[in-house]
Amino acid sequence: MERDRIIALLNQDLEGEHAAIIQYLTHAYAMGEGEMACEIEAIAREEMRHLDWLAETIVELGGTPSLERGSTRMDGEAVADWMRNDVLLEEDGMNLYREHIKLIDDPKIKRLLERILSDEESHRGDFMHFVDKAQKEEARDVRGSQRDKVTDILNWGIEHEYTVILQYLLHSYLTPNMEVKRQMEDQAINEMQHLGWLAEEMVDSGGTPRIEHTEVDRSTRTADMLRADIKIEQEVASGYDRAATEIKDPDLKKLLTRIRDHERYHADIFSDLLKKE
Ligand SMILES: [Fe+2]
Ligand SMILES: [Fe+2]
Ligand SMILES: [Fe+2]
Repeated sequence: MERDRIIALLNQDLEGEHAAIIQYLTHAYAMGEGEMACEIEAIAREEMRHLDWLAETIVELGGTPSLERGSTRMDGEAVADWMRNDVLLEEDGMNLYREHIKLIDDPKIKRLLERILSDEESHRGDFMHFVDKAQKEEARDVRGSQRDKVTDILNWGIEHEYTVILQYLLHSYLTPNMEVKRQMEDQAINEMQHLGWLAEEMVDSGGTPRIEHTEVDRSTRTADMLRADIKIEQEVASGYDRAATEIKDPDLKKLLTRIRDHERYHADIFSDLLKKE
């Protein structure tokens, strides 16, 4: 099979992983704190590893990892409905992986897809178990419809964090500079933490996290990437700073200040790397 065709198939798989991560995180946040939400977040983390392996393989083949999100199955009122949708999403993924394993003849890529497929089979079993559990517990949506200054700030933060997660991952895949790559991966993980904190805070504040992103910088030269990353960090650090002074709740103020300090640190790290470029 031609290289471009393999890249296209792997990007389709990657988009499916992206969709699964967002669907599962949305469900986990909407369930509030609890054992089941934690287990679902752990599954989302496994999908992130899949996404990472697929992206690295695409880059090895000379391709560019897609930033599109595949289709999700987000409808449903009660948690049991969501878990049924998660079972279906796993089945969508399993069907696609089986098809791609048949089509691709490169043994290394075949092996990777088989490895991922076995995780998806296990996730499907987990979600089937969660359907029963959610039914027994009559688990429900804990999100509210609150819209005020606090929820606006939190959604602004969530949107930013999601954007930079994608941006730093893409930059980490595309840069040939190993130190930049390592830092991008590291800071992307830190941004994932921020996203989780803000989404949980949102649910506690009676709102609904909106997991959408804005435009992602697609520079291909490392210096251009770093310039874009420094710019976004500086903007967002002052955004968090402003938000922290506006917010009265002391815990939320503390959280926003902590995130602001992380963002300043990211800007400094990227500036040092740019000096060396
Ligand atoms: Fe999965
Ligand atoms: Fe952040
Ligand atoms: Fe940051």
